[in-house]
Amino acid sequence: MDTEFLKREILRLKKEKNAVILGHYYQRDEIQELSDYIGDSLALAQKAQECENDIIVFCGVHFMAETAKILNPTRKVLLPDMEASCSLAESCPAEEFARFKAEHPDHLVISYVNCTAEIKALSDLICTSGNAEKLVRSLPEDQKIIFAPDKNLGGYINAVTGRQMLLWNGVCMVHDAMQAEAYIKLKMEHPDAAIIAHPECNSALLQVADFVGSTKAMLGYIKNSGKQKFIVATEPGILYEMRKQSPEKEYLVVTADKGCSCSDCSYMKLNTLEKLYKCLRDEAPEITMSEELIEKAKKPIVRMLDMSKQLGIIK
Ligand code: 13P
Ligand code: SF4
Repeated sequence: MDTEFLKREILRLKKEKNAVILGHYYQRDEIQELSDYIGDSLALAQKAQECENDIIVFCGVHFMAETAKILNPTRKVLLPDMEASCSLAESCPAEEFARFKAEHPDHLVISYVNCTAEIKALSDLICTSGNAEKLVRSLPEDQKIIFAPDKNLGGYINAVTGRQMLLWNGVCMVHDAMQAEAYIKLKMEHPDAAIIAHPECNSALLQVADFVGSTKAMLGYIKNSGKQKFIVATEPGILYEMRKQSPEKEYLVVTADKGCSCSDCSYMKLNTLEKLYKCLRDEAPEITMSEELIEKAKKPIVRMLDMSKQLGIIK
């Protein structure tokens, strides 16, 4: 279908149906361009909670759209492609996790938002990469904690806080595959550049990074940094917003032999303009969940948002 036709129709349908488009920073450029709000997981969850539109079209992955539905269940929440999953969410099946939790009854369960609603329902507190460290630091030092499902993010928080949280053995297939050696090589070619990395990256890469933070935190770091060049260790969709917010700066990515960055999240990239158009037109695929699951999964997410406000992480 013709791109201009798709863009026009998406904007028309959005208005006609009183819909809002929430887009994650890893979405395709053309989707970010059409989104009413773009942001990281934390900002988008908050936007979804406050949203008064009849329809929320979530351009991101399944757990994000699910979180929007949990926080605002009276809205119709659509996801352009239901197959848009996440390797972290898939690494943590609910039954197995429930057994693990039962083996450690004195532990508080903190789950990274990149997990299914069933895992959220088994958790005491949810976190995102934008608030995880501060939330953990705010808990009593002797509090025993299970952290799931990302062992890289959990390991990073253990390293910076000195905690010994028990970690679930999940990884983001995109960030975990980024090799420290390749980033060191690029930095040697550009010694004036700062390596900025998402905490889902493996520990070897995080150790050589000049800055570690969520997608939103990276954007803030670039703006406030005196540096001109950044080696970006996260999904390259974020480059759209980096170039928009700080166009005068230079961004470098590790490229494979074929010249591609190869760090695309295949799940995030499943959403296309055509699927977004069809999703608005047909009001499907829609996220649905039982009321019981919504109620159970909502508590630890609301707790996260309340604590994030108290700690001054969000307004
Ligand atoms: P952010 O919370 O930084 O947006 O990250 C979400 C994600 O899926 C990273 O891979
Ligand atoms: Fe999941 Fe990784 Fe894709 Fe983020 S980049 S959605 S953590 S697979």
